[in-house]
Amino acid sequence: MTPIGAQPTPFLLSVEGLTVSFDGFKAVNDLSFYVDENEIRVIIGPNGAGKTTVLDLICGKTKATAGSITFRDKELTRMSESQIVLAGVGRKFQTPSIYEDLTVFENLEISYPRGRSVWGALTFKRDAAVRERVAEVAEIIFLKDKLHERGAFLSHGQKQWLEIGMLLIQEPDLLMLDEPVAGMSVSERIKTAELLRTIIKDRSVLVIEHDMKFVEDIAHKVTVLHQGRILSEGSMEKVQSDPKVIEVYLGH
Ligand SMILES: Nc1ncnc2c1ncn2[C@@H]1O[C@H](COP(=O)(O)OP(=O)(O)OP(=O)(O)O)[C@@H](O)[C@H]1O
Ligand SMILES: [Mg+2]
Repeated sequence: MTPIGAQPTPFLLSVEGLTVSFDGFKAVNDLSFYVDENEIRVIIGPNGAGKTTVLDLICGKTKATAGSITFRDKELTRMSESQIVLAGVGRKFQTPSIYEDLTVFENLEISYPRGRSVWGALTFKRDAAVRERVAEVAEIIFLKDKLHERGAFLSHGQKQWLEIGMLLIQEPDLLMLDEPVAGMSVSERIKTAELLRTIIKDRSVLVIEHDMKFVEDIAHKVTVLHQGRILSEGSMEKVQSDPKVIEVYLGH
């Protein structure tokens, strides 16, 4: 059932008039932006601009004070965090949260949608379909030769990829990543850009990032946040040459 007020739009995600106030402080202030299907959107901006808070609002971790978040025909501001996941929104936090004692295979298997509870995921029959999907995802995240390695033995970058894989196996239509290449080597950053270009064939990605070289590599469009509002938006070229962006962010 479509909730009253949620109109289908040509966009995958429409954020309109989004505001959240923490004790009177508006961390996100009347924010509107629109993400297309198969788009990689990057949100940049200085520390404290409200970037992570925007992801918290979209995934339902934080409740909006005002505004709407329309994902396909669903109004996310009225839904719980788990309903939002089921609606097709996956979110990766800044620090990787994989199971260190489990292998890459097991980490992916446990995230397969059929076994959502930990008990179910550990005991369900490993049928061919699951193995096939795990293999596909492992290939995308560059870990197909590490399927039987324990999480604890992966590099920081490989852990980040594994966590992306754990979200991908649920086939989200929108994947949100908060600073995915922080702490990664240059070659890992290049591979992460390649990974994102592969996975947007089936979805859109919303990324927060500070590494401008990486942003340039991946962004279809960049939204620059400052004090909870949009300072500038458009192609990387456009925002990079915007004097307002240079003044508050890129010039530092
Ligand atoms: N739950 C909360 N309660 C009170 N204030 C909060 C809460 N979450 C975020 N804030 C404040 O909102 C502002 C925006 O924080 P946010 O984490 O979204 O910034 P950011 O753009 O992600 O910054 P960074 O680049 O440092 O990660 C900050 O001033 C922060 O202290
Ligand atoms: Mg942040």
